[in-house]
Amino acid sequence: MSKYIIGISGSIAAYKSAYLVRALIKKKHAIKVVMTPSATKFIAPITLSTLSKNEVSVELINEGTWNNHVELGIWADGMIVAPATATTLGKMAHGIADNMLIATYLSSKCPVYIAPAMDLDMWKHPSTKANISILKSYGNHIINVNNGELASGLYGEGRMAEPDDIVTFLENLKLTENKLQLKGKKVIITAGPTHEKIDAVRFISNRSTGKMGIALADACFKQGAEVILILGPSKHRPIHREVKVILITSAEEMYNATIKQYHNCDIAIMAAAVADYTPTKTYSHKVKKGNNNWEMDLKRTKDIAAQLGKMKQKSQINIGFALETDNEMEYAQNKLKKKSFDFIVLNSLQDKGAGFGHDTNKVTIIHKDNKIKKYELKSKPEVAHDIINEIVTILPHA
Ligand code: CTP
Repeated sequence: MSKYIIGISGSIAAYKSAYLVRALIKKKHAIKVVMTPSATKFIAPITLSTLSKNEVSVELINEGTWNNHVELGIWADGMIVAPATATTLGKMAHGIADNMLIATYLSSKCPVYIAPAMDLDMWKHPSTKANISILKSYGNHIINVNNGELASGLYGEGRMAEPDDIVTFLENLKLTENKLQLKGKKVIITAGPTHEKIDAVRFISNRSTGKMGIALADACFKQGAEVILILGPSKHRPIHREVKVILITSAEEMYNATIKQYHNCDIAIMAAAVADYTPTKTYSHKVKKGNNNWEMDLKRTKDIAAQLGKMKQKSQINIGFALETDNEMEYAQNKLKKKSFDFIVLNSLQDKGAGFGHDTNKVTIIHKDNKIKKYELKSKPEVAHDIINEIVTILPHA
């Protein structure tokens, strides 16, 4: 059974949270309740501590002691914010941690389910809609509001979902989670470019944006995997905050971080455009220009994919990428063999809309047994989905 935090904010619907706590306890889940100070005006903490069989947290600081929202956030398998008022939605969307509920939400590492409750005009307001879409974009689940009589006496949308409907929502989600393609798998993904330092202001890099690897990280997470993204300098980030992001700068740092994570992963996807060369000499200050040419000596970086190919256990799957401008098939097939990939994803710069910087990609997947699949031009999240479908066909148990 699961461990849930129930976050209650100040709405007349707060009384329904008592029923929600009771319904979840009946289903043998463990519950800890966090309330905003204004929620305590609608329902007494003692009611919720009795029903949940756990102390209720309200204040960040209690008579000089600090309530540990981080510990609470880590403890939970899921956080349900019900009711979520317009104010609480706004604070969650913008990270205004002025109470225990928001601090717990910001520290949590688990999926978050939000059941809004407010008057129909507040629900319709563009600021509420904008906050909802921000919260969705962070990977939170929104439980639909109901239509009906509101506390104001008006009729319309804005009623919090009934406690039984929230329980059904969670159970349905669990059912779909059980069917996830990568459930229980640990995936590591390298993405983005690397920066190879020359001096205090200059570096060598390439035009990779990291978008393909990030789309893969989100797609693998959505299919139930634990995902570690080892990301070079990129302005993009995964939508799902549960994706663990390790930020690195140089090829050497990416090598070290990836090797460290590899031993207990099931799938490694190498989508990074790792610099092949790095300066032999770097300068901590800015080098001033002179009258002559600047000749720079470059040394080879370590090949991460080739090293993982050597470390690879039978149960592990390694996937590589190849971005080519000519002789695409031949080069990709050579890389597939040399780096012991199970399959390689080839994109050609000759295809319009493929490769660095685009939101789309056109790929060909080449397996080690030489099975070849060509795909149409698609968005990067769609390409990520195709890659996952291909991984599923070679998973050890498949
Ligand atoms: N790769 C890697 N570490 C490197 C270089 C490449 O892990 N130091 C990985 C890439 O992430 C990709 C695959 O190897 O999955 C092929 O990368 P690519 O740059 O196309 O090939 P290279 O081996 O660098 O060969 P070349 O530069 O000759 O095309």
